[in-house]
Amino acid sequence: MNTKRKLRSADWFNDPSQPDQTAIYIERYLNYGLTREELQSGRPIIGIAQTGNDLTPCNRHHMDLARRVREGIRDAGGVPFEFPVHPIAEMGKRPTAALDRNLAYLGLVEILYGYPLDGVVLTTGCDKTTPATLMAAAAVDIPAIVLSGGPMLNGWGREDTDQRVGSGSIIWTSREDYARGDIDYEQFMDNVTASAPSVGHCNTMGTALTMNSLAEAMGMSLPGCAAIPATYKERPAIAFHTGKRIVDMVFEDLKPSDIMTRESFLNAIRLCSAIGGSTNAPPHLQAIANRLGVKLSLEDWQDHGEEIPLLVNCQPAGEFLGEDFYRAGGVPAVMGELLRAGVADGSCRNVSGKTLGELYGEQVPRNEKVILPYTQPLMENAGFAVMRGNLFDSAIMKKSVIGDSFREHYLQNPEHPNVLRGRAIVFEGPEDYHHRIDDPALEMDEHCILVIRNCGPLGYPGSAEVVNMRPPDYLIKRGVTGLPCIGDGRQSGTSASPSILNASPEAAAGGGLALLQTDDRVQVDLNNNRVDVLVSEEELQRRRADLPPPQLVNQTPWQEIYRNHVTQLDEGGDMKMDEEHIRIVETHGTP
Ligand code: FES
Ligand code: MG
Repeated sequence: MNTKRKLRSADWFNDPSQPDQTAIYIERYLNYGLTREELQSGRPIIGIAQTGNDLTPCNRHHMDLARRVREGIRDAGGVPFEFPVHPIAEMGKRPTAALDRNLAYLGLVEILYGYPLDGVVLTTGCDKTTPATLMAAAAVDIPAIVLSGGPMLNGWGREDTDQRVGSGSIIWTSREDYARGDIDYEQFMDNVTASAPSVGHCNTMGTALTMNSLAEAMGMSLPGCAAIPATYKERPAIAFHTGKRIVDMVFEDLKPSDIMTRESFLNAIRLCSAIGGSTNAPPHLQAIANRLGVKLSLEDWQDHGEEIPLLVNCQPAGEFLGEDFYRAGGVPAVMGELLRAGVADGSCRNVSGKTLGELYGEQVPRNEKVILPYTQPLMENAGFAVMRGNLFDSAIMKKSVIGDSFREHYLQNPEHPNVLRGRAIVFEGPEDYHHRIDDPALEMDEHCILVIRNCGPLGYPGSAEVVNMRPPDYLIKRGVTGLPCIGDGRQSGTSASPSILNASPEAAAGGGLALLQTDDRVQVDLNNNRVDVLVSEEELQRRRADLPPPQLVNQTPWQEIYRNHVTQLDEGGDMKMDEEHIRIVETHGTP
């Protein structure tokens, strides 16, 4: 370090050719006690992009962790500037938190581009906070480092105190118990809240732990950062080291584009399969890659992810939780397995300046009940299946959560193994689903397929996590706890449902799901990764001619702007814009 180079912030704070402008930029930052010496002596000015706030409880402890980040920045000679990021709380935002990912991204781009920042610490945690901040850092391409907030501690059962209770996942199983009448409302609420015993993000391998693990796999955080539980002493310690490291990254000019190469995205795809990661990862990685000009597509998930085995035994695909994942070795242990198996690229760089091969190449002892060896995985070929057919151009299915009972019920037809057919029951959105699911008039049985539409980026703006639909209570009471589900929305990363989701194009964009009718026969063929409605092409064309235009009602100004620009989930649910506007090439100065 300390090869001093002219820093970006000097254009604001130390430009002798524009003394008036420099004075204007600098004087107000002195009004709370900063000194000219700090701002004009070539010290890196480091942003702390703060995603923690009272509305975003999953990230709230970042407000405390920022103190250690500041100390690290100071320790290395930098000057910290903390500022807020638009809140994104997965569990709290209506209609969807996904709507706000692009908004937070746009807001952060303006901050990183428009203020005198030489580098930035991205505080991440709850689902969309990780992709939103990485998208912005990738677009502006100034040195950036991820500080994950970490998962909550393990949750434990109220009655069976040895039973791990995972966030999100417990809702799906407790809802079944409640439907059967095995527990009352108070017990239901007790079960669910037991899953959240401390600050931090979801403790299951949901979207939050997935995205933070992928950020680490791509090299954007210090090694081992993703899985450290929010309350462990290692968490403020790594906050300190993260603050220190970003200062050196500025001196080294180590930028997101140096780290997040196509190969590092492919590593992240492989790691996603190995950890049993969330189906929300493909659109998020796509949106980040788009900002770097890295070519990525769903084919990459098929070609590089589908055949990777499941190594991590975490809910919802397994039994353990984030705290166990950390104690078993976290991302470094999984990446080490992938590297030694020869399926990951060890030449990719990490923010530390080292390559993944240097960091993770050597085997370290670990708990093999939680992170299994590559040669003895929990499941082979455990990545996402990329499905195609006459209802959509693409959709994905998380194979690592195809459980034994689903397999027995639906995939062991002796004449057509891995092919299931069913009667479609079509819902127009989550409200319609909740309204009608228990209606006996639908006469559902175990041979039905639940379909939900109008839930994609346009239809339910942002795209709703609703495709994992529980069967009607009368079927749950008969022991049918899971029906196959298809939809143009997403599903929570905490769900163990092997739903077929993210269907693109969505119904509201004219996708084939809009043509489906209740009682149509639908075939899911896992041998050929196809989903088709068994209706003639002529009939589909007739239905298309009769299709009314979608009724999209915007409740807020942002919804209108979002809908005018958003792409489909296979393209990342991204902002449609000219290529040259996605990447901020010139990183400072007045236009
Ligand atoms: Fe915030 Fe799961 S709801 S991490
Ligand atoms: Mg979610």
